[in-house]
Amino acid sequence: MAIHSLNLITKIVVTGILIFGFNTTFAQSSSEAEQPSLYDRLGGLAPITVVVSDFLDALVPDATLNANPAIDAARKRVPTPYLKYRVSALVCQVSGGPCQYQGRAMKESHTHLNITETEWARMVTIFREVLAKNNVPEKEGQELIDIIASTKADIVASAAE
Ligand code: HEM
Repeated sequence: MAIHSLNLITKIVVTGILIFGFNTTFAQSSSEAEQPSLYDRLGGLAPITVVVSDFLDALVPDATLNANPAIDAARKRVPTPYLKYRVSALVCQVSGGPCQYQGRAMKESHTHLNITETEWARMVTIFREVLAKNNVPEKEGQELIDIIASTKADIVASAAE
């Protein structure tokens, strides 16, 4: 009788461990699969607007970029706060945030600027400096760089041809 009870208790305990064990493993793997959006990992809209604002504050007066007369003319005509708003909405949307980008497509808004490979490279350097200044983690920074890289064919004049 005592041995029978022990067997029963052992079965219950083992079954419990198995069920608990499987549940735990399953919960871990599913939470790994469902990682938060880039938007959430960056900390939401407030930190995104800070990075975008710093980026445009460095980009707009840059001498290398403004040696291109089309870029120089556009930055004098288009208000920087407007660009900050548009770029913030774009980054917010494509990183999985709640914003809706309602500006023009990348090709339409950059074709007339005749942006070269050299100017593109300069922009990426400035962006990397801004990521470092704001302590954006390596992984999230690289995801932002990848997003920017995905627009290159529409923005660089020679690459778009
Ligand atoms: C070398 C690279 C770049 C330069 C020099 C540049 C410069 C400019 C300039 C001067 C404008 C205003 C154009 C106009 O209205 O006449 C503009 C618009 C804009 N740019 Fe860029 N840009 C660059 C790359 C990028 C990238 C990588 C993104 C985003 C991933 C971006 C997002 C935008 C947006 C959202 C607008 C506003 C579009 C609208 O008016 O609806 N730009 N850019």
